[in-house]
Amino acid sequence: MALIAPSILSADFANLQRDVEMINRSNADLIHVDVMDGRFVPNISFGLPVCEAIARHAAKPLDVHLMIVEPEKYLARFRLAGADRLTIHLEACPNLHRSIQSIRELGAVAGVAVNPHTPVELLIDILPEVDTVLLMSVNPGFGGQQFIENTYSKIARLDAMRREAGLGFTIGVDGGVTAENAGRLAATGADILIAGSFVFNAADPCDMIDHLKILSTAG
Ligand code: DX5
Ligand code: ZN
Repeated sequence: MALIAPSILSADFANLQRDVEMINRSNADLIHVDVMDGRFVPNISFGLPVCEAIARHAAKPLDVHLMIVEPEKYLARFRLAGADRLTIHLEACPNLHRSIQSIRELGAVAGVAVNPHTPVELLIDILPEVDTVLLMSVNPGFGGQQFIENTYSKIARLDAMRREAGLGFTIGVDGGVTAENAGRLAATGADILIAGSFVFNAADPCDMIDHLKILSTAG
């Protein structure tokens, strides 16, 4: 069974507390928080004060996905703002090893994310240092995009690398996750499914979270 992480990017920002409380009541495992700076990605979402506001109401761990340049400058502040897990992009970090160490020193779960065009093989030397790898299955920046099919091959290759090295990091998939692909993603090796629009656009988001969980077991 995969962990389900609804992405708050698809919430109603004018009713954030209501939507965070909905996730609290659901069987979701994490709350995925997408921070975008308009530089690493062509969109701006929100930053530290909003993360802090979400944390004030959240009863589940905050999984903060930093889609920003120079994330190392903000790690400590996002940790203080309530991040339990911090994921940074390989493409944004010339000193990735040091930045991952910093996340660990802050006592957060350390994650590295890769964009759709980045081969998972580039991660080989950082894998022993990370707790989780986030595979982008859309180009980061927006919710509601179409899932990129090549992601299955990336999960399978990363899962093989994990087994070969005897490592215990988890594999997350972010973007375009739906009831159509949840089962196959989990069966291929994904441990965490991040879903934004598919959950929040559902008539009953709590039911949809349960549905994704069940599909990820059957897959
Ligand atoms: C994309 C974000 C995702 C996004 C997923 O840049 O990192 O977390 O919220 O949204 P959906 O599930 O709608 O593709
Ligand atoms: Zn994300």
